[in-house]
Amino acid sequence: MKVTISVIKADIGGYVGHSGMHPALIAEGEKRLAEAKDKGIIVDYHVTSVGDDLQLIMTHTRGTDNSEVHGLAWEVFKAGADIAKEIGLYGAGQDILSEAFSGNVKGMGPGVAEMEIEERPSEPVIIFMADKTSPGAWNLPLFKIFADPFNTAGLVIDPKLHPGFIFKVLELKKGRVVDLKCPDEMYDLLSLIGAVENFVVKEVKRYDGVIAAVASVQRLSLIAGRYVGKDDPVMIVRAQSGFPAVGEVLEPFSLAHMVAGWMRGSHWGPLMPVSVREANCTRFDGPPRVIALGFQLKNGKLVGPRDLFDDPAFDLTRRRAQEIADYIRRMGPFEPQRLGMEEMEYTTLPAVLKKLEERFKEEE
Ligand code: F6R
Ligand code: MG
Ligand code: MG
Repeated sequence: MKVTISVIKADIGGYVGHSGMHPALIAEGEKRLAEAKDKGIIVDYHVTSVGDDLQLIMTHTRGTDNSEVHGLAWEVFKAGADIAKEIGLYGAGQDILSEAFSGNVKGMGPGVAEMEIEERPSEPVIIFMADKTSPGAWNLPLFKIFADPFNTAGLVIDPKLHPGFIFKVLELKKGRVVDLKCPDEMYDLLSLIGAVENFVVKEVKRYDGVIAAVASVQRLSLIAGRYVGKDDPVMIVRAQSGFPAVGEVLEPFSLAHMVAGWMRGSHWGPLMPVSVREANCTRFDGPPRVIALGFQLKNGKLVGPRDLFDDPAFDLTRRRAQEIADYIRRMGPFEPQRLGMEEMEYTTLPAVLKKLEERFKEEE
């Protein structure tokens, strides 16, 4: 059976500030997706949140980029934004960048990750959702999951994984993509995706062309041409029997690697894996957080979720993330706590430079 998994998310209002989600928005999402399920537009759904982002996880048989499914998400976000305005949530309607819907939410504010798959008899999938960071946050974990034998034992041990994976990399500022095969082109891949704010992994396929992972790659700042929040990305990863095991997919997140985002989208900070209950961005509007929900798919039905980071196995990582946060925070407005000049989204630098223009003199 062919099934499409669509994860569509948006920040349509925060509670309190940009820290978390109001239950009224979850309730609205659940109500509207239940109606859509009854009407047969979608097969199944799960609504959740990470930080101030509302997450709609949907399954259906309509393929990717389907206007009815995108239209449904758009209606949920618009209705949610109205509720957010009514009860006075913060930044109500933030990610609704346009009023006119033209069949697809891409480029309109919300983030999207979708894949159409031939469902296996048992189909474990993991949905990762992050707040206070950007799509480049997935580069390191995706590399480790699908190309690093020190992370994924199956790349060495399992004949089904041994031939490797193909990474589709998007150059954000030019809007062009390139496919790179691992392990053959590993060094070329790393030379690109190490630059996380310029190159992002859009999808990963197995050597035989079967889809393994997809990530949302929208950059709000590039869409809107001004700062409208970080993009708070999502991704879908398939696991087991011919793909990395659930534990191999989760393993890279034990690092708490540094990602761009955090306060005002302008700082480097550790990505802290947390349970849904702990997905509230507090300290310095963070630190950036990631949740992982695991589902078994059966005839498109989402059996789950299992809250995969709700586990003491990640306690040490959370502690490390807090230590890193504590350390790097002490650097305040100095790089590398603050992002480099090119990536500063809220920068006052042009205004400061303009003001001081007359006073700058040639060095003697
Ligand atoms: C970062 C984020 C927050 C806000 C910050 C200031 O992605 O959402 O850190 O940038 O709280 O928000 P405003 O400018 O809305 O007061
Ligand atoms: Mg917000
Ligand atoms: Mg957010």
